Amino acid sequence: MVGIILSSRSVYGYTSQVAGVEKEMIRAIRPADLEQIHRIEQQVQPNPWKIGMFQDCLRMGYHGYVIVQGDDVQAYGILSSAAQESHILTLAVEPSCQRRGLGQKLLSFLLGKAMKDGSETVFLEVRCSNLAALQLYRKLGFNEIGTRKNYYARDSHPLESRSNALRGGREDAIVMAKTLLYNEFSRLHELSFLQTS
Ligand SMILES: CC(C)(COP(=O)(O)OP(=O)(O)OC[C@H]1O[C@@H](n2cnc3c(N)ncnc32)[C@H](O)[C@@H]1OP(=O)(O)O)[C@@H](O)C(=O)NCCC(=O)NCCS
Repeated sequence: MVGIILSSRSVYGYTSQVAGVEKEMIRAIRPADLEQIHRIEQQVQPNPWKIGMFQDCLRMGYHGYVIVQGDDVQAYGILSSAAQESHILTLAVEPSCQRRGLGQKLLSFLLGKAMKDGSETVFLEVRCSNLAALQLYRKLGFNEIGTRKNYYARDSHPLESRSNALRGGREDAIVMAKTLLYNEFSRLHELSFLQTS
């Protein structure tokens, strides 16, 4: 068992594998995934991380997970945990796989990991113009707790559809937080024990 096989219908569910059909699965990031992750990163992030930043995160022992179908990386996310706090450091879905629930599934999984780490609160930062991510985070119970002015460099973006709140090449970050509730994630918490890599 190297990962959790996902049902397309449920955030927390998993199904048995149908013969000949590769199911989407959550598993830990492997070094061989990093090139694909970096390619996706360059497509979806205005200021993409370099491969070395992902490698550093894995070296630090942060939780790095991908959703894969076969060898194809469809989504990735990284969570760090310390002193009863966790931080979502990055989360992204390959453009052609967006709006299929993968971002929500991976984020839910990472929240389960945070709970397993003993965290009480999960924090993240998001560009104020990133409406898709803001909607996702609000949907999973994150609340806005502050802003960091001019936090992000503002480069051109391949999926440009953003216009508001941009100041002189910089963009504000919205800081969001979610208090973890055991009942909400207990099922996921159980599943995360199945993870072996
Ligand atoms: C943000 C992101 C991770 C969402 O992933 P996704 O798999 O497309 O999202 P999901 O299909 O799981 O959607 C879950 C919820 O998020 C919200 N959402 C996702 N995409 C949205 C969009 N384009 N517009 C508005 N809401 C959106 C919705 O509330 C959605 O729930 P619904 O389907 O019931 O309406 C994805 O758009 C992405 O990778 N963006 C580029 C990278 C990025 O911005 N990462 C986050 C900041 S680091």
